[in-house]
Amino acid sequence: MNTRSDVGLYGLAVMGRNLALNILGHGYSLAVYNDNSERAKELAAHGSSAYPGFSLADTPKDLVASLARPRRLFIMAEAGKCVDEAIDSLLPYLESGDILIDGGNSHYKDTERRGDMLAPKGLHFVGMGVSGDEDGAHKGLSLMPGCDEDVWIELRVLLDAIAAKTAEGVPCTSWMGRGGSGHFVKMVHNSLEYADIELISETYHLLRSFVRMSHDEMRTVFSEWNRGELSSYLIAITADILGVRDEDGEPLLEKVLDRAVQKGTGAWACQAALELGVPVGLLAEAVFARSLSSLKDERVGASAVLGGPKAGSTGERHSIVEDLRKALLAAKVVSYAEGFLLLRKASAEYGWNTDPGKVALAWREGCNIRSGLLDPIAEAFRKEDSLSALILDSHFKAILDQCLPSLRKVTVRAIEQGTPVPAFAAALSFYDGYRATWLPANLVQALRDRFGAHGYERIDRPRGESFHSDWK
Ligand code: 6PG
Repeated sequence: MNTRSDVGLYGLAVMGRNLALNILGHGYSLAVYNDNSERAKELAAHGSSAYPGFSLADTPKDLVASLARPRRLFIMAEAGKCVDEAIDSLLPYLESGDILIDGGNSHYKDTERRGDMLAPKGLHFVGMGVSGDEDGAHKGLSLMPGCDEDVWIELRVLLDAIAAKTAEGVPCTSWMGRGGSGHFVKMVHNSLEYADIELISETYHLLRSFVRMSHDEMRTVFSEWNRGELSSYLIAITADILGVRDEDGEPLLEKVLDRAVQKGTGAWACQAALELGVPVGLLAEAVFARSLSSLKDERVGASAVLGGPKAGSTGERHSIVEDLRKALLAAKVVSYAEGFLLLRKASAEYGWNTDPGKVALAWREGCNIRSGLLDPIAEAFRKEDSLSALILDSHFKAILDQCLPSLRKVTVRAIEQGTPVPAFAAALSFYDGYRATWLPANLVQALRDRFGAHGYERIDRPRGESFHSDWK
């Protein structure tokens, strides 16, 4: 090969292909390797005709050899051992100063491990969260790179070019911090995606049970909400889904089996929260709600045995719809408060230097959780970079002051009617727990001290001093 390519790409599954088209579309020359040669040939057929800068490498060695130095090489492989295999196959040919970018949904601890393994060889490793659908190939992606800052500076022009842009033309990418921060940010993104989806699904459930709305009516409601404070990609596509009919003219949504699956990134976020001691009850309920839904056959069996109240219409259509809008907004604010608490704790714990405001800005376009809420979130952290919880910011406090009564009302009604609303209820528990000056944790401590002499602190003595009493 005479001219060397600007960028390399290993792996051509859906996201790899999107990224390839995106890079080529921005005028970069790109060399691609994929161990599934069919996929590579398919892109070659498409890519070679449309983009003169496209080339196909037959082996990992050829791929590395075809790149201009310092090399910039994306790995778009399935998280786990495929990424390690990709690195192993490239490693013998890479040279000091080269940059490897893992754009898959890798676990952040794997990213930290890989970075530590490659650093002594002079190789730079970037764990980059990538979010976007097929449109991302053309419209750009939300990119969340985690690496040393000087490596990000080297990549910045390329990443800015291929990232999604806001209406003002601002690229949806930024430096997420050191080490595994980029993949941690993507994991929290996915966890918030689970929470958004669960909250929207609970709202749909209540629109059905409280108001007995038709699908066309619900579609109108979600479309209207999408023009206001709730405006987001997920609300917009919910409205689309509600409008789709099956061949028999019935709403297709009602033919979909109510058994949600998951690839695991939401659970990873909750595991990280458990390890770091961050209260993310709503995010966890969004994962557990999928797990409970997956017990479809058990649920159907239990429904014949276990009694409960019957869901009944409330009658007051207009006010209930407005209460549901406010409840959804309030709960969404709480879920983002939990997500950012988790991010901040991880950044402090691992020394990543993640700026939460920049994270919010990187999610404004290209990704599944893009919404109108992200600009005010970025603004909240810009105003006060030590802000502990988003719900303390004046903008979000005002939203909660206005919307929490509705969240309480619909949650209580749902519980009285026997309709499960785990994410709504968890939002309230977080809010009420976070604002409580006193919690019954004194009894938790006393019980621990009673049965296991684990000690407790006293309110009338300095923190950190441990006491033990004879409780018998
Ligand atoms: C993205 C998505 C992407 C995908 C999830 C779905 O940002 O591009 O988050 O990662 O939608 O893998 O995850 P579940 O299968 O776990 O719902």
